[in-house]
Amino acid sequence: MSAPTISTEGLRELLEQGAPVTVLDVRPGAEYAEWSIPGSVHADAYEALRRRDPNALADFRPTNGGRVVTVCAAGKTSMLAAERLRARGLDAASLEGGMRAWSLAWNSAEVPCPGSTAQIVQLRRTGKGCLSYFIGSQGDAVVIDASLDPRVYRRVADEHGWRIRTVLETHVHADHLSRARALAVDTGARLCLPTTDRVSFEFAPLNDGDTVRVGSAGLRVFQTPGHTPESACFLLDERALFTGDTLFLAAVGRPDLEATTDESRHRAHVLHASLQRLVALPPETVVLPAHTSAPVAFDGRPISAMLGEVQERTSLLRETEETFVSQILTRLPPTPPNHHRIVALNEAGTLPADPTQLEAGANRCAVA
Ligand SMILES: [Fe+2]
Repeated sequence: MSAPTISTEGLRELLEQGAPVTVLDVRPGAEYAEWSIPGSVHADAYEALRRRDPNALADFRPTNGGRVVTVCAAGKTSMLAAERLRARGLDAASLEGGMRAWSLAWNSAEVPCPGSTAQIVQLRRTGKGCLSYFIGSQGDAVVIDASLDPRVYRRVADEHGWRIRTVLETHVHADHLSRARALAVDTGARLCLPTTDRVSFEFAPLNDGDTVRVGSAGLRVFQTPGHTPESACFLLDERALFTGDTLFLAAVGRPDLEATTDESRHRAHVLHASLQRLVALPPETVVLPAHTSAPVAFDGRPISAMLGEVQERTSLLRETEETFVSQILTRLPPTPPNHHRIVALNEAGTLPADPTQLEAGANRCAVA
């Protein structure tokens, strides 16, 4: 017997529409704890399903309507789970490719930005927590930190009647494969990166104080080294700040990726200075980071906060330079999986045939 499957895009659409569906995750508990589909339920049935235990999932009852989508790491054990549930008469399907494929699922949220003539849309890779942005004005659009297939950006641009003119990166990413170059090639847009000699492809370099125009709006470049040497932030119309991995909503960027211990310490000092520049902006500035650490719900609510709130939540921002440096270096989380390989590909501007293999797992760019 074989159960039907549902694609990542199929499940994504059901969740975005708010359709009644129970997402049942059957991976081991530790994997579920690391990252999961928002609103999913967990059943500790992995081993029982693998040994074909007829009692596996016997106690499971759908919590949200009759339809069930089963999930595992790669789509095999979830198939056993869906078969088991169908044998009980439930309407169950298995998520094709499992969480590895789900890594590419996305949703979106409009970001209100009073005082700017531009429209901001936040695109979220729900599993990995990568956040990218559209800024649209007068039919033109800029994309920041593209982390999804170029087709997704084209679709959103079409829906809004925008032409993608410029593709920006805040820095060379270590946690996901950048789609910026692919998107620029695909759309004929200009590709802009903060000045760096790290990458081996052509781009228009951005320097501190430069302004990138989009329609009637402008993005001012702040060079904010620390997380990486070339990291930059972009300030839209003095109202919204795209912070990359320099500043999150309750954490700051880690300074240690692709760096020795001495370099990490140096970068932590530099990061402190960069952050001091940012916190000098008005407290009502809307902060829009490049990552979030939890799976992103299909709720249409932007992941953002005002700078004043971010300062309140992030104790590191209130420390002296010496304390900041010593605390950040003792609180570093484990490094993201495959980051050496991801950085090498991002520096080369190339994408492997199946990006999900390298990108699986949660985001680890922040220090709280
Ligand atoms: Fe990063």
